[in-house]
Amino acid sequence: MKLWNKGFEPDKLIEQFTVGNDRELDLSLARYDVQGSMAHIRMLESIGLIGSDELPVLLAELENIAQSIERGEFIIEDGVEDVHSQVELLLTRKLGDLGKKIHSGRSRNDQVLVDLKLFMRDQMKTLSERMVNLFHRLQSLSEQHKHTLMPGYTHLQVAMPSSFGLWFGAYAESLVDDMEMVVAAYNIANQNPLGSAAGYGSSFPLNRTMTTELMGFATLHYNVVAAQMSRGKTERAAAYAIASVASTLGKFAMDVCLFMCQNYGFISFPDELTTGSSIMPHKKNPDVFEIMRGKCNRLQGVPNEISLLTTNLPLGYHRDLQLLKDIIFPATTTLCQCLDMCDFMLQHIIIRDNILDDERYNYLFTVEDVNRLALSGVPFRDAYREVGMQVQRGEYTPTREVHHTHEGSIGNLCNDKIAEKMNKVLEKFGF
Ligand code: ARG
Repeated sequence: MKLWNKGFEPDKLIEQFTVGNDRELDLSLARYDVQGSMAHIRMLESIGLIGSDELPVLLAELENIAQSIERGEFIIEDGVEDVHSQVELLLTRKLGDLGKKIHSGRSRNDQVLVDLKLFMRDQMKTLSERMVNLFHRLQSLSEQHKHTLMPGYTHLQVAMPSSFGLWFGAYAESLVDDMEMVVAAYNIANQNPLGSAAGYGSSFPLNRTMTTELMGFATLHYNVVAAQMSRGKTERAAAYAIASVASTLGKFAMDVCLFMCQNYGFISFPDELTTGSSIMPHKKNPDVFEIMRGKCNRLQGVPNEISLLTTNLPLGYHRDLQLLKDIIFPATTTLCQCLDMCDFMLQHIIIRDNILDDERYNYLFTVEDVNRLALSGVPFRDAYREVGMQVQRGEYTPTREVHHTHEGSIGNLCNDKIAEKMNKVLEKFGF
């Protein structure tokens, strides 16, 4: 039976095609749907659309449903279209006509939006927590290995001395920028769309400020059409944030694969964290980081998928929007899994010492030697030429002295400043 039943049942094929896998996906929204309904009926009671004797009865039953959701017992039954219909069905089964009252002044269009806003807000919070974990891990590895040098490359050619402190610290600071995107996505989700109903408001005197406060939203989407248009925009903002984090993590995963390769041999992991080959008995492969890289690369396509799905949809609700769930729901979960896995692996990373003693890295020090000459008064261009000619004649021998002092260099990582920057960004969440 549908909420919109008017005396006929839709064709089964039509139902299957339009509902798709929404019943499973909607399970993630269930707790938010109940939360939204609780706020809505409190507000309906305040404007006289629900009796003050009826409110506690409805709230108690919604609370029962909330508990069944937390216990993992809530399901969306066959033939029931979505989570919104299921909650209303459970209420009417238990309370009869009273259950039917909760839908006054709203539509599933703003109901699903409320659910999504609350859900995405929580997801962005969870994501930020996982990012903070990895951030701390990277920062402490950076400090721990700040004196361990490694080659720096440009064009994949040996370039200048770098360090593990610089490498780990770089990804920590990158996460600060990504966090700005997560804050933006969080704030965009943190607005109340309830009361926009089907997309054009309602003639009931709804108190939207009240539901905003009840659900702890920072503000409301005032304009009801803007509220409806935030379907897709909210997900898109989250997708940009996800893609941004994924690009950082995917790049890091690539570095790890490269540095684990025998031709580099900078890092390794305990055997039990590597994977083998069915034919080559010696293999200890970095599959974890390869899967991470692959997943993160795919995640970078999520904003694009959302753009393609929503481009050219005019204002107002369209059923196409339902398909956004398919794209965005697994994305945060996948990213959080990758962040957790990265944090886990980094607890066991093995760093090789004395990498630069290998003479294939001799030329890393040319710039150091040019700078030393320049500091002693030789014009930079002449110093560059002199060292260049030594290299050219095969006569260059590095002094191997590295002296970097400016902010953000191997000798002065500024990890404390980066941590301060992260804290400033985190303060913007307001939780
Ligand atoms: N499952 C639908 C969605 O996700 C719920 C809203 C249905 N609204 C409607 N007018 N058919 O968009």
